[in-house]
Amino acid sequence: MSAKKTETSKAIEAAPSEEKKAAPKKPAARKTAAAAEKKPAVRKPRKTAAPAEEPVVEAAAHVPAEEPVAEAPAPVEEKPAVEEAAPAVPAAEEELPQPRRSVAFIGSECYPFVKTGGLGDVMYALPKALVKQNCDVKVILPRYACIPLKYQEKMVYRGSFTMDLCSDGRAFFVGIMEYVWDGVVYDFIDNEEFFRAGNPYINLIDDIPRFCFFAKAALAALNFMNWIPDIIHCHDWQAALVPLYLRTLFANTPIGGAKTILTIHNLRFQGLYSLPTIKYWTGLPHYLFTHEVLKQGYDDANMFKGGIAYCDLVTTVSNTYAREIQTVFYGENLDAHLRYHSAKLRGIVNGIDVEQWDSATDKLLPAPYDASDVVEKKKLNKRALQEQLGLEVDEGKMVLGLISRLTDQKGLDLVNAVLPQLVDGNTQVVVLGTGDAIYEDAFRKFENTYKGSVVAYIAYDEALAHRIYAASDALLVPSMFEPCGLTQLIAMRYGTVPIVRETGGLKDTVEPYNQYTNEGNGFTFDRYEAGLLLDAINRAKTLYFTERERWDEMVVRDMAKDVSWDNAAKQYRALYLELKP
Ligand code: ADP
Ligand code: GLC
Repeated sequence: MSAKKTETSKAIEAAPSEEKKAAPKKPAARKTAAAAEKKPAVRKPRKTAAPAEEPVVEAAAHVPAEEPVAEAPAPVEEKPAVEEAAPAVPAAEEELPQPRRSVAFIGSECYPFVKTGGLGDVMYALPKALVKQNCDVKVILPRYACIPLKYQEKMVYRGSFTMDLCSDGRAFFVGIMEYVWDGVVYDFIDNEEFFRAGNPYINLIDDIPRFCFFAKAALAALNFMNWIPDIIHCHDWQAALVPLYLRTLFANTPIGGAKTILTIHNLRFQGLYSLPTIKYWTGLPHYLFTHEVLKQGYDDANMFKGGIAYCDLVTTVSNTYAREIQTVFYGENLDAHLRYHSAKLRGIVNGIDVEQWDSATDKLLPAPYDASDVVEKKKLNKRALQEQLGLEVDEGKMVLGLISRLTDQKGLDLVNAVLPQLVDGNTQVVVLGTGDAIYEDAFRKFENTYKGSVVAYIAYDEALAHRIYAASDALLVPSMFEPCGLTQLIAMRYGTVPIVRETGGLKDTVEPYNQYTNEGNGFTFDRYEAGLLLDAINRAKTLYFTERERWDEMVVRDMAKDVSWDNAAKQYRALYLELKP
């Protein structure tokens, strides 16, 4: 074993920490032998990597690779991390399902710190739901510079160390900043070089090194804090290297006994890049770069592929998507790999946070409502939205909402194809989204052409999203593929009828309206064709304008549907127990 290798293993074992004062109700996970060697806490100010202007190569120079990690300070405990709201833990411990399990979530975004889509919602809401299932949860995230100051200010320094990363042993600073909220502990991995950008995702050239760093640093941080969970639950490609590190470089460290779950939220993004680059940045052993694990094609490596091969279980966010990704059309070139690993692939449908999304208590709504007054209050919310956005103010109009990342995943070319046929004098369309210029421009053009009937609000705006969910009569989700989809769930919770394509989680969560039995939650179509979307919208319009009582019954039915995380959290807990009985 080379000297470099020895340094690496020192780095990843890192110094065990003092017991954390602000730990969640039940103290952390299992202790290991390493816990015995406690180090005195050393007060040390927050340390950052090299100044932001310097390139990454320079940054390494500031932290000598040879700096012995055993010298790294134990975490400082200047003050306990902030406990913001009342913990989500139910009062009586006996009521909780037994036994307790500890889980580290590792992912690239989490509401309210940083969110670009549904992954951010899941990383926030699922840990909270798991706390109610007697899980001790830590969420590990990058400390992006774009996290709002109000959260940055409340983070507490937990310690720092240096870690070897690349195949030539370059070392990097790893800081840990902590924040406790609602029974969940958030640990942010700090390194200004990697995470100073204003957006969690930049481009693959930058993202590959930063998420190699993040995956390894997350494990090293768990060792450093001596928080050894039963399960490490990784999310999407940005965390997909974790199982590979765990079973190789970290195998003989305290964290090495943890089991891993990798959840696929979106298979389109995989961390696919040139093999030599990924090999260099990860510093992973040569034998992982085969077609069975990381290698793809002639000279590429695929981080998601490697994670799928090396984790203990793969989950995705609906049963239908779990089946779809094993086919050529949806498999994004990994269908054969997923078929090969199908025995460890499961689908669990997402939920939404029903406290965050509650039309009765939603402070962002002009007129909050519940199922008893939804019909009247929706009109008030509609008028308010029409006024705010410059639409013709008329509560008699049917408002179709669309809240989405504007990318080709979301079926926007179908919407563009049918939009002129939707504007019939009785219908308004409200689009909220950002993304590809081609869609942004197309929607702006429609707004211009159909002033007063179509609005394209090209922005990311949480508050406006709430108002649109509440004010719309129906929400369009005609996606080409949709692993789960949260907007249709939020819509139903707000009494807004979803119009969806039957794919992925949309198929699993929206039961098509049956005019004979007067059952169902929304309107659906199957093949990816504009004519079928138009037909589904026209069926919705017909019911809305000609049989309003039945429409209103569907609205109430949708509001009563269980879209909470309870069911999914129980299923995840069962998987955790399956891996660690
Ligand atoms: P995806 O993760 O593929 O973007 P989801 O349906 O799972 O799709 O989640 C989208 C989430 O992002 C929802 O919470 C939705 O309300 C939110 N969202 C999407 N676009 C916007 C936007 N422009 N402004 C505010 N919220 C948005
Ligand atoms: C992804 C998917 C979306 C899913 C979300 C959360 O972004 O595109 O369908 O709801 O992740 O799992």
